[in-house]
Amino acid sequence: MKELKEKIIALKKEKNAVILAHYYQEADIQDVADYVGDSLGLSQEATRVDADIILFAGVHFMAETAKILNPSKKVILPDLNAGCSLADSCPPDLFKKFTDAHPDHIVITYVNCSAEVKALTDIVCTSSNAVKIVESLPKDQKIIFAPDKNLGKYVMEQTGRDMVLWDGSCIVHEAFSFDKLLALYKEHPDAKIIAHPESETHILKTAQYVGSTAGMIEFVKKDPNHKFIVATEAGILHKMQQEVPDKILIPAPAKEDNTCACSECGYMKMNTLQKLYNCLLNESPEINVPQDIMEKALIPIERMLELSK
Ligand code: 13P
Ligand code: SF4
Repeated sequence: MKELKEKIIALKKEKNAVILAHYYQEADIQDVADYVGDSLGLSQEATRVDADIILFAGVHFMAETAKILNPSKKVILPDLNAGCSLADSCPPDLFKKFTDAHPDHIVITYVNCSAEVKALTDIVCTSSNAVKIVESLPKDQKIIFAPDKNLGKYVMEQTGRDMVLWDGSCIVHEAFSFDKLLALYKEHPDAKIIAHPESETHILKTAQYVGSTAGMIEFVKKDPNHKFIVATEAGILHKMQQEVPDKILIPAPAKEDNTCACSECGYMKMNTLQKLYNCLLNESPEINVPQDIMEKALIPIERMLELSK
């Protein structure tokens, strides 16, 4: 493993490549990355990359977003099958019919969707800026929010706005068991529950903090509490624990019993260190987006970046 990590680091230098990784990647992958972050941070970082190659250790929509934001770079993804249940829940042709049926609505889409869906969007958002973006619009503005209904409901609750929601969800965040979470909290009444807004409403209502992956890490760093139950994909625990080595972090339990007693994203975990190495060596698989889609999708992503300043 150590040898493979060293080979990746050397190859990265040789090829003038940078590795951008999401917090849900396995620990070894995070360790060889140049930048590890949430969806917003990764998009912002992608615009700043000066190297020739961006090796994206994340899922397909993230690599696509990086390509749209920095099209002159070669963007490669270790496994093209690393998708996302949210992105899959929103096929562009059906989404077009949906937006056509609501012509007087502004379309806000969560970044977890395909480039084609972004091309049908007015403003993109992530979990760290969704509330701010909705609040930036006039109060009487009609809004479509897609594809995550759980994040959509959370934003509605936070802003007091009514929005038309697309019926999509994240299989990883819907896998948390409310009963097991309550039982765990009973065992650890001194813990604070923190949750990602892709989780279901009843989970979010029990949480003392709700936010993006980067927001959750910041919260455990700043909060004086010493114990946290963490309701998001378990990969986050690697960086989080590095930030707060003396605090106790307990992953929220999934409905199904599994070896990690947590919830893991099978798509994120398709990337392995070996696939990272092969991808860098072969400079493949490469992410390419048709020019017209790229141009249309860039507009709502840039609006998001502007509103996030
Ligand atoms: P953030 O890292 O932006 O919070 O998103 C979480 C997620 O599920 C990415 O797919
Ligand atoms: Fe998609 Fe959920 Fe995996 Fe994030 S955790 S990539 S939203 S399936």
